[in-house]
Parts: sequence; structure tokens; C-alpha cells
Amino acid sequence: MSGGHFIVIEGIDGSGTTTQCSILADRFIDKGLSAHPTREPSDGPIGVLIRQVLTGRVVVPSREGVRPPGWATMATLFASDRLDHLEAEILPNLDNGITVICDRYDYSSVAYQTVSGGGGDEVSTWVRELNRHARRPDLTLVLDVDPEVAASRRDTRSGSPELYEVDEMQVELARFYAKIDELFPSDTIRHIDANCGVEGVTTAIWSEVMALRGESV
Ligand SMILES: Nc1ncnc2c1ncn2[C@@H]1O[C@H](COP(=O)(O)OP(=O)(O)OP(=O)(O)O)[C@@H](O)[C@H]1O
Ligand SMILES: [Mg+2]
Repeated sequence: MSGGHFIVIEGIDGSGTTTQCSILADRFIDKGLSAHPTREPSDGPIGVLIRQVLTGRVVVPSREGVRPPGWATMATLFASDRLDHLEAEILPNLDNGITVICDRYDYSSVAYQTVSGGGGDEVSTWVRELNRHARRPDLTLVLDVDPEVAASRRDTRSGSPELYEVDEMQVELARFYAKIDELFPSDTIRHIDANCGVEGVTTAIWSEVMALRGESV
């Protein structure tokens, strides 16, 4: 059996990655095509730990009180989770001919850890190096959205903001994602205008997926 496609959806918090991954997987299944939706941080042991950090359930005591692990620790945790995710879930599905649709991948590591680590080239180079063995996606869709639009979408969700859900940081992340192609010149990256409604974004994504599959819309 030939391998499945590996499709990644990326963007700032509230850009709609989770919404679109779920719709895309449903569309595959409705058409009788096999698809495996998944996400990062993954649902494996390291991913669960990262989610606890992001939601503030695990913090490190310090003299000043409590603080989350620093950006370099987070970068190594995300890279470990990714390798575990690949081994346990992504690669076995691809090998079985199943398309894997992943909500975030190493672009998120490079974007979030570089921005939280001060934004320098040295940081982004190191994070990419940490992820050197991560299998490249066949198609990456970056949902470009104005940070104010994403912020108002996040406001509609319940629960407290997560670690990186700070408006100023999201503005920097949106700038970073706008030129992320420069850091991954060999990858197939398509930017999607995600400021419009859910359906418009879905249509644009589907057209890219059809092109990947060599089919017309
Ligand atoms: N194109 C859209 N137009 C309007 N609302 C949207 C759109 N896409 C998603 N939403 C809504 O915005 C909210 C955030 O969407 P979603 O959870 O998919 O974002 P996300 O990118 O996964 O965020 P995070 O990265 O924080 O997980 C949800 O309430 C969702 O229904
Ligand atoms: Mg999400």
C-alpha cells in the first residue's frame, strides 16, 4: 500500500487550526478516504505533560513564587513529544496509507520558542536543529489571521488563557508565521487567509489538499 499524505495546519492561537483540522478529517471520511486527525502537543505522555504546563497545572517553584519552565526547556519537551508522536502515531498511520492531519507541528516550536526566547536567529536555528529528525509534511497550511481577530475568537472560548496566549506575543507570532517559509525552504507551505468565516477557510484548504492529491476541486 502506498503511503498516506502528511498534512499540517498551523497558525497563531485562535486562527482556527483545531476547527479546520476537524473539518478536513470529516471531509476525508465523508468521501470514503481514510484520515487520522491528531495534534501537538500530542496525547502521548510528554504531550500530556506539556499541556499541563500550558494550562498552568504544573509550575516550577522558585524564590519569586512559581514560574513555568523556560523557553529552552519547553523547546526540548516539544521536540521529545514530536519524536514520540511520530513513532507512536504519525508514521504508523502514514505507512498504512492513511492521511495524517496534524494540528500544529515543528513550525509551532520554531515560532513560539523563538518568540519567547527573544526572537533571535540563533534560537530559531537551534530549535530547527532539535527537530532535525522530524519527518517533513507533504503539505503545510498556515492560517494567516489578524491578531485582533484571533484574540476575539479566543475570547469566545471558556477557560483561562494558556501560557502563550498573551496579545503582544500573538502579534509577534503572526509576524513570524507570515515569513515562516524562509526558515523551511524545502517544505510545501501554503498561506491561507483565515480572517473570513469558517466555510471560506475550509474551501481554500480543500483546494490545496485537492492539488496535493492531484485532483480537481
Ligand atoms: N474562520 C473562523 N471564523 C470565525 N470563527 C472561527 C473561525 N475559525 C474558528 N473560529 C472559532 O474561533 C474559536 C477558536 O478556534 P480554534 O479553537 O479552532 O482555534 P485554534 O487555532 O485551534 O486555537 P488554539 O491554537 O488556541 O488551540 C472557536 O470558537 C471557533 O469556533
Ligand atoms: Mg486549537
